[in-house]
Amino acid sequence: MKILANDGISPSGKEALIATGHELIETKVAQEQLVDYINANQVDVILVRSATKVRKDIIDNCPSIKIIGRGGVGMDNIDVDYARSKGIAVINTPAASSQSVAELVMAHLSGMVRFLHQSNREMPLEGDTKFNHLKKIFGAGSELQGKTLGIVGFGRIGQALAEIAYGWGMHVIAHNRGGGEAFTLNKTFADGQQLQFKVPNVSMDQLLESADFISFHISGAGQTLVDAPEFDKMKNGVFLVNTARGGVISEPALLAALESGKVAGAALDVFENEPQPNMKVLMHPNLSLTPHIGAATEEAQDRIGTELADLINTYA
Ligand code: 3PG
Repeated sequence: MKILANDGISPSGKEALIATGHELIETKVAQEQLVDYINANQVDVILVRSATKVRKDIIDNCPSIKIIGRGGVGMDNIDVDYARSKGIAVINTPAASSQSVAELVMAHLSGMVRFLHQSNREMPLEGDTKFNHLKKIFGAGSELQGKTLGIVGFGRIGQALAEIAYGWGMHVIAHNRGGGEAFTLNKTFADGQQLQFKVPNVSMDQLLESADFISFHISGAGQTLVDAPEFDKMKNGVFLVNTARGGVISEPALLAALESGKVAGAALDVFENEPQPNMKVLMHPNLSLTPHIGAATEEAQDRIGTELADLINTYA
């Protein structure tokens, strides 16, 4: 089949597709030129990450497309139901990037409580002239151990995060619609030892009221889960992390909560207006920021690439 990987594909995915006889095109085609390009090249499979949108216009105007593949979890950039109603297979790789996203959350959390995001901005500017001043302001950190992490949405990523946080000595609570009163997780360590532990599944209000740190791992895009009323319920000095989708935490409400001191710090990997986030968000000193890189590790992209190739081969 002729496959257009419009947002790129890992070397392992490329190798697997070519080895099984597919023709892979790695050209990045601009969104507005996609219909013409797909038709001119009679592309059978379009592979995307979150950048390229596969909406009704492409589905309706590109009859050669048989498979739409999302290398990643969220499919909010694809009109999935519509595509399937037209007989197009839509595939994704929901499990491949959980560990990478969970590790990024821990990086943000551990960075924020020690002011790494601010220190990294200030040290190059004033590290030589105001070392002691910077030591004083960034030397008022705290530990994660012993604190409570609330995880909203307890699917694969939430569970991977719980396993790491538990190992760091944090109390972990979850809020998930299904799952009963508690989740039982089995952590396997590098040497093969295993540890079973429980994560209580509490109401959203309970989580908001008792967590010192809150991380969001819900799937749906376009849902604002945290706005002014939710901030009111949180502990003073709470830290938040959003690696799910822009807007899950309302950005204006977050900026207000940072200004009032209700929120001590927040980490955003996803933004309401990607790829041009609001400048007030980008400039805020108490925000730890990354440009939607949760799944962007070599390991996750390798797994995604080979998994996509395997899935495509089941249709070939
Ligand atoms: C996902 O839904 O898998 C993540 O948001 C990753 O998106 P990306 O593939 O654009 O990095």
